[in-house]
Amino acid sequence: MKQRINKKAPFLVIMAMEEEAELLIKTFKLKLQKKPFGDYLPMKTFHGELPSGRPVYLVLPGKDRRFKVNLVGTQLAAVTSAFSINKYMPSAVFNFGTCGALKSKAAKIGDVFYCTDQVWFHSRRIPLPGYDEFSRGGYPCAPLPSLKKKLKVKTGVLSTTDSLDFCSVESERFFDLRADIADMEGAAIAWMADIYRIPFYALKSVTDLMDIKQKPGDQFLKNFQLAVGNLTVQASRLLRSLD
Ligand code: ADE
Repeated sequence: MKQRINKKAPFLVIMAMEEEAELLIKTFKLKLQKKPFGDYLPMKTFHGELPSGRPVYLVLPGKDRRFKVNLVGTQLAAVTSAFSINKYMPSAVFNFGTCGALKSKAAKIGDVFYCTDQVWFHSRRIPLPGYDEFSRGGYPCAPLPSLKKKLKVKTGVLSTTDSLDFCSVESERFFDLRADIADMEGAAIAWMADIYRIPFYALKSVTDLMDIKQKPGDQFLKNFQLAVGNLTVQASRLLRSLD
């Protein structure tokens, strides 16, 4: 049975890097809105319609004023999610992006993962009663059984960090959480979607294998275009299928 979400209510897509979003913006012919969040906040919105006429807003955190790079990471992911959910009142929140994965779990560069169960943080550690569980997060992902056949994706558990490298303290927590893939925004966005009680969907495409010798930054740069191409195909299918 086709799963439908509240007819006509907007979809909100949050991505971290402009270069990750370019193909999706082209695919849906999205148009840049002028200063959607006022003069100071750096976020950018691209707006358009899905085939049914449902509005879709793709929001990016924008660029760092000093360093001229995309504002990747959990801080701006949370700010972007809070402002854009509040402004566009979407019926579903989507996070599309890149991720690191594990060769030991048979992941390959360019694989696209549909994130299942819950999204965690593996970079936060607060060993105090109650705060320990809080630090791990564990925000829900929307289940997607009926569409799985339409998408060429693997499924896996996502965990979020604020660093690209896979240091030993974080990897210990990552394995403890039974996570399959790592990104730098998912849990922050899933947290805000959960606060607003809006279904959260995430697709992540593999740029690097975290358990091989090659540096993650080198792998990321080498594999980025392949990963983004695959991500865009699956993300377009997901949006059209749920529309
Ligand atoms: N995004 C892409 N690769 C990543 C990795 N290895 N860790 C965190 N975020 C990532």
